[in-house]
Amino acid sequence: MTTIDDCRFIDLPRIGDRKGNITPIYGGKHIPFDIARVYYLYDVPGGAMRGGHAHKELQQLIVSVMGAFDVVLDDGQRKKTVSLDRAYYGLCVPRMIWREQENFSSGGICLVLASMPYDENDYIRDHGTFLREKLRL
Ligand code: TYD
Repeated sequence: MTTIDDCRFIDLPRIGDRKGNITPIYGGKHIPFDIARVYYLYDVPGGAMRGGHAHKELQQLIVSVMGAFDVVLDDGQRKKTVSLDRAYYGLCVPRMIWREQENFSSGGICLVLASMPYDENDYIRDHGTFLREKLRL
């Protein structure tokens, strides 16, 4: 059973010079899964909350490539809030962790690397159902 302690920060490579920085990310090398999908959240209005669900199997790396936001992690027993505000580290979230993203700074961009294609059947969008599933595991 996954817990919030399994949600790890991962330092990403940073290749920098006076012209700026590059961060390359390889699935299976920098993060513990192959990358099946990339998406990003942007133009998030102030005060909006994203997420609000868990995934049955999907693993993700969440990176703030621009600006900052908070991620609230919940394993059904404990919660913690972490802040992401750098393009060279990410938060690795395993399966069956409830997450909410909030407090997006103006212009903030949240990059997500995902282990699976989009599949609505992989989502648990009801918190009560999530808690029951965690108790069952
Ligand atoms: P959702 O994952 O609930 O967004 P968030 O967790 O950021 O609040 O997705 C919102 C909508 O976008 C939902 O109707 C499904 C759709 N969607 C896709 O079609 N493909 C994707 O890769 C993602 C992430 C979402």
